[in-house]
Amino acid sequence: MDQQQQAHILLFPFPALGHIKPLLSLAELLCHAGLHVTFLNTDHNHRCLTHLQPLSTHFPTLRFESISDGLPTDHPRNVQLVGDLIFSVKSVTKPRFRDLLADLSTKSEHPVTCVIADGIMSFAIDIAKELGVRAMTFWAFSPCGLWSFLCMPKLIEEGQLPVGGEGDDMDQMVRSVPGMESILRRRDLPDICRQQVDDPLFQFFVEEFKAITRTSALILNSFDQLEALTLSHIDPLFSRIYTIGPLTALLTSRIAHDVSRSLSSFNNLCEADRSCMTWLDSQPLRSVVYVSFGSTGMMTRGQLFEFWHGLINSGKPFLWVVRQDGIAGVEGEHAIPEELHEGTKDRGFLVDWAPQEEVLAHQAVGGFLTHNGWNSTLEGIVAGVPMLCWPTIADQHINSRWVSEVWRIGLDMKDTCDRSTIEMMIRAMMEERREEITKSMDRIAKLAYDSANQGGSSYHNLDKLIEDIKKKV
Ligand code: UDX
Repeated sequence: MDQQQQAHILLFPFPALGHIKPLLSLAELLCHAGLHVTFLNTDHNHRCLTHLQPLSTHFPTLRFESISDGLPTDHPRNVQLVGDLIFSVKSVTKPRFRDLLADLSTKSEHPVTCVIADGIMSFAIDIAKELGVRAMTFWAFSPCGLWSFLCMPKLIEEGQLPVGGEGDDMDQMVRSVPGMESILRRRDLPDICRQQVDDPLFQFFVEEFKAITRTSALILNSFDQLEALTLSHIDPLFSRIYTIGPLTALLTSRIAHDVSRSLSSFNNLCEADRSCMTWLDSQPLRSVVYVSFGSTGMMTRGQLFEFWHGLINSGKPFLWVVRQDGIAGVEGEHAIPEELHEGTKDRGFLVDWAPQEEVLAHQAVGGFLTHNGWNSTLEGIVAGVPMLCWPTIADQHINSRWVSEVWRIGLDMKDTCDRSTIEMMIRAMMEERREEITKSMDRIAKLAYDSANQGGSSYHNLDKLIEDIKKKV
C-alpha cells in the first residue's frame, strides 16, 4: 500500500455549526487529495445532518461517525446553555472518544493515523497522543482571537479581568496583548473577559487556551498576508502552523467547485430558503444590506425591533436572516413577530436561513451587517462586501475591531443597539464611507484570492499539510 492509501484522518469539530462547517471544507479538500477521512459528529448533529450521508457517495474516501454529547435529546443546545454542552462533552464524550479512537486506530481496514481536533477540545489531542496517534489542532476562531486568548493568564495575573464592571472605562487601551497595544480597548476583548474569573466557563476556556500549545501542529483558517502581526506573536509558541484559509476560497481554487453543491454548503442544520435569491435578482446593483448574526447568536425582542427600525429608516433594501431560535422571547416565546413580517414587505426580505455564501456573492449585495463570527468574516472578505459589525460572543468582539481598525474593511457598532445609530451606520457603510471601505476591501479580497490560488501561501500550505500527514504514516 502506498502512503496516500494509508493516511487516514479523523476530523473532530466542537459540536456547533461555526466549527463543523470549516472542518467539512477541510474534509472535502483532504478527500480530493485522495486521503481517507472520518468525520466525527455528535449524535445530535449527525441526526440533523443526515442529508450528508448520501454525499459520501461523491467522496468515496469519506465516512461519518457519531458519538454522544451526553445531553438529553430534547436539550435546546443553544448559546445560552453552551456551558451544558461544553461540560457534557468534556465528561461524557471524552471516554467514549477514547474507545472509538482505540478501535479506529487499530481495528479498521484503514487505521486512523492522524486526529485533527477542534481547538477547544484538548482532551481529543491528549487521548490521541496517549494512543500513539498523531494529533493536530484546528482553530475555528480567528487568529487575532487566539492571540488574545493566549494572553488571558497574563491579563488575569495583572488583575485586568473581568472587564465591564461598574465604573470601568471600556475604551481604555489594553496593554498586555503584545502587538495590539494601540488596537485593543477593553470592550474589544473576547466576551468571556466580561465574566468573573472564578466562573466555571471562564476557567474552562482559560485551561483550554493553556492546553492548545501541547498540539503538534496548529491549523488556522486564515492566510498569512492577513495575519502577519498575529502570526509573528503566536508562531514561536507552536511547533508547526499551517495557515490554509479562507477554506471556502481554497475549495473554489482546488476543486472545480460549485458552492451550492459542496460538502460544506450541506452544513445547514436547517434548510436554506432559496427564494431570497430570486428577490435579490430584482434589486439594484450593490443596493442591498444582507443581515445575519450567524448560527447561534441571540437577540432580545427589543434589539430585534431596534435593528428593524434602523434598517427601515436607512432607506436601503435589506435581506435579513431571522432564525426562529435567534430571538430570546418573553416567557419562552420565540416566534418572529407578525408585524415585522408585514412591515418588511415593501423594502426587505426575511428568511429563517439563507444560502449565505451565494447571497454574499450576489451582485445586488452592497453591505453585510454581521456578528463577525469567523466564518462570516472570512466569507465577507472572499465576497469583497463591506461590513457593519455587531459582535455578540466569543472572538467576535476582537474580530470586529480588526475589521474596522486594522483591515479597515468595515465599521464597528459593538455595544450599541439603538435605531438611530443603526440607521446612521448603515448609511455610512452604504454611502459616506463606501468608497474608502471598498478600496481596502478590494485589496484584502485580492490578497485572499491570491493566497488560495496556485502560487499563494494557503494553497502551498495545504499541500504541505497533506504531504506532512502522509509522511508521518
Ligand atoms: C461560531 C462563533 O460564533 C464564531 O465567533 C466563531 O468564530 C466560530 O463559531 P457562528 O456564530 O455560527 O460560529 O458564526 P460563523 O462563524 O459566522 O458561522 C456561521 C456559518 O453559518 C457561516 O459559515 C455562514 O455562511 C452560515 N450561515 C449563516 C448560513 O449558511 N446561512 C445563514 O442564514 C446564516
